[in-house]
Amino acid sequence: MSLSELDGSGKRVLMFGGKGGVGKTTCSATAALHYASLGRKTLIISSDLTPSLSDIFEMEIGPKEKAVQGVENLDALEIGPDEVMKRWKKKFGPEIYEAASSMINMEYDEVIEYVAMAPGIQEEFMLDYVLERVKDGSYDLIVWDTAPAGDTLRLLELPYKFMEHLRTAPKVYMRVRDALKLKKVPFLELIESWKDLAEEVTSFMRDPTNTEFVLVTIPEGLGVYQAKRLVKEFQRFGLDIRYILVNNVIQNPDSDFNRQRMEMQCPYIQMLRDEYGDDREIIKVPLFPYEIKGVQRLRELEQVLFPG
Ligand SMILES: Nc1ncnc2c1ncn2[C@@H]1O[C@H](COP(=O)(O)OP(=O)(O)OP(=O)(O)O)[C@@H](O)[C@H]1O
Ligand SMILES: [Mg+2]
Repeated sequence: MSLSELDGSGKRVLMFGGKGGVGKTTCSATAALHYASLGRKTLIISSDLTPSLSDIFEMEIGPKEKAVQGVENLDALEIGPDEVMKRWKKKFGPEIYEAASSMINMEYDEVIEYVAMAPGIQEEFMLDYVLERVKDGSYDLIVWDTAPAGDTLRLLELPYKFMEHLRTAPKVYMRVRDALKLKKVPFLELIESWKDLAEEVTSFMRDPTNTEFVLVTIPEGLGVYQAKRLVKEFQRFGLDIRYILVNNVIQNPDSDFNRQRMEMQCPYIQMLRDEYGDDREIIKVPLFPYEIKGVQRLRELEQVLFPG
């Protein structure tokens, strides 16, 4: 049981999610390294508030795609909320202002700041960015190290919320149009195009031929309960998690301390097996005696996640 069965699947986006600190970034980096080594042009993105790709790859990675030293076909990108907002404003700012200024008399910054406050703009932009990179052929595969659990869900919920929000907007603008006796309201067209975008993004993310979501957890109470909640939440969005990585598993304990921890872990691993073992892959990942940092260490984890 391993992630190797994804090798030939031609997925375009691999997302890793889970509770804070369970090994999402480590596992994402390993998967990205693996697919780059198979010759697929790969981009790893971290959209976490505190991105740690720089630490793992032991080089400075920033908000611009950068080739990972010593690994062919692999680029990395760390993009935090501030940078996302900056790019969003740059991409959509002018068209929003143009549309809005035909109706209301407001300063550029005022308009943009106002629209930027709409719920989920950030996440929408991230999704849009990922989709664009996939579609423009820059990369064969995007591995996305998502922010800890709650935010990942927000991300998925977003296009729904966004559309819900926009659904009421046309009525408001219609009224403004009537009141001002305007013939054409470009804002409406803009909203329509955003709606299309949100729909496109949602259906791409939900289509299992494009996207795979890998859940990372640890064999402890908090990890397992959180994992169960996540699986349920995802189902609510029509997304099925098929791979669950159980990280930090103690095997061959060499001390009383480790034996005790192993005994603590066993029932939780069993709980995951009972609940998900029949129709999902549960992959145990051993706790290594060292931190996983640098390409060489990642290669060792690659042997576990992608054996053979
Ligand atoms: N199987 C493992 N064995 C040993 N150390 C591990 C293992 N998996 C992860 N680690 C270590 O645990 C720490 C946390 O891992 P990582 O940063 O990947 O977690 P994360 O889920 O991305 O955390 P965050 O939610 O803060 O982004 C790192 O120092 C990493 O080297
Ligand atoms: Mg991380």
